[in-house]
Amino acid sequence: MSTSQDLPIVNEPVPSLSRWDDAELLRLTSMVRQKSLFYWNGPQNIALQEEFRKHYPLRHLFTTSSGSAALHVAVASLRLKPGDEVIVSPLTDMGSLIGILFQQGVPVFTDIDPATCNTDPEKALEAITPRTRAIMAVHLAGNPCDMSSLTAIAKAHGIAVIEDCAQSWGARHNGVPVGLLGDISCYSFNDFKHLSCGDGGVVGTNRDDLGNGLSKWGDKCYDRTTATRDPEDLAANYRMGEPLAAVAAAQLTRHDSIVSRRVRNGTRLTEQIGDISGIRPTLTRAGDTHSYWFYLFRLDRSAFRVSRESFADALRQQGVAANPGYLPMPVYRYRVFRHHNFFGGTWPARDLGATTMDYTKVCCPVAEEILSDCITLPINEAMTDTYIDKVARAIRHVADTLRRP
Ligand SMILES: Cc1ncc(COP(=O)(O)O)c(C=O)c1O
Repeated sequence: MSTSQDLPIVNEPVPSLSRWDDAELLRLTSMVRQKSLFYWNGPQNIALQEEFRKHYPLRHLFTTSSGSAALHVAVASLRLKPGDEVIVSPLTDMGSLIGILFQQGVPVFTDIDPATCNTDPEKALEAITPRTRAIMAVHLAGNPCDMSSLTAIAKAHGIAVIEDCAQSWGARHNGVPVGLLGDISCYSFNDFKHLSCGDGGVVGTNRDDLGNGLSKWGDKCYDRTTATRDPEDLAANYRMGEPLAAVAAAQLTRHDSIVSRRVRNGTRLTEQIGDISGIRPTLTRAGDTHSYWFYLFRLDRSAFRVSRESFADALRQQGVAANPGYLPMPVYRYRVFRHHNFFGGTWPARDLGATTMDYTKVCCPVAEEILSDCITLPINEAMTDTYIDKVARAIRHVADTLRRP
């Protein structure tokens, strides 16, 4: 019958594997024998790009100091004018937004699909104005956005699609890896992602008009192919030095094994809990592959006699590493947005009349609802089938115990 409180169903800690090994050591060893650790023509950066292209064959690449930096380079390459708009999900990291704001652009938050938790293409379409320059598709938690619809909308309106693949290494839309579907794509190697070099990123594109400038936008607008120094634009230094590139290059050799284990584990969990009344795992669209940076399900609170927080508590008592929620609030509610506190307490784009955006008036009801009813769980490549089965059993047990009569 029911499991006693002192015998949790998940009777082991969250499995973990060592993430760095001989592959990283080999690369780091060859790196310390180099004469220079500079990125330009650096052997580790070249190796990183070669490994990256095995999975994401993009013609133009620039390796960066973070995923946020990669996104800033992507936005800068679009050459926004003050007040130009980029449509984006309100369930994302600040890293998606920093570059837009630094380029004096305007993030326009549109609501998400209640089943996939990604940008709802219809809402994105409604938000397009003459100032819209791009849609940023954030593949949340590893679940691909509806790229077919988003790219069709973008094409019809002559705007770009930036793919934010920070959370979605190895995910696929209709069999095509994310990052190969939009105009320009960004990835993160921060320490919490599928692949890590501590901090790092990649920005890539097949568009020559954007790609030829990538290194300039991430390297102070210096042209390393010539000796001349006369930058024509304002650009940051977002370079990735050789030590980080060595680790990132080695990490990429593990891409397929990490991704396939995560896909298997997340899919197995969904197969086992998908039929539990009141529990709604994120929908992965037919033909797509979710690469599970984390696992999210929504709780139908009318089905249970406790709050989401108490439900998560009950899961934790059963040994499941459950968190009630994901972000504390949609990003437009962060203080920096509510106070338009972007540049020393001011927002030049608005103060000078380039936009009328008022983030205190923004509300995306579906995003708010999801953040109030979702539960998130870790997924990783070290988890075994047995572990996933225990998590599934624990969720079913808690749901059955707490269901309204
Ligand atoms: C969706 C998304 N975009 C961008 C970023 C920024 O990446 P980084 O932390 O490497 O700057 C993150 C990181 O958490 C992210 O999750």
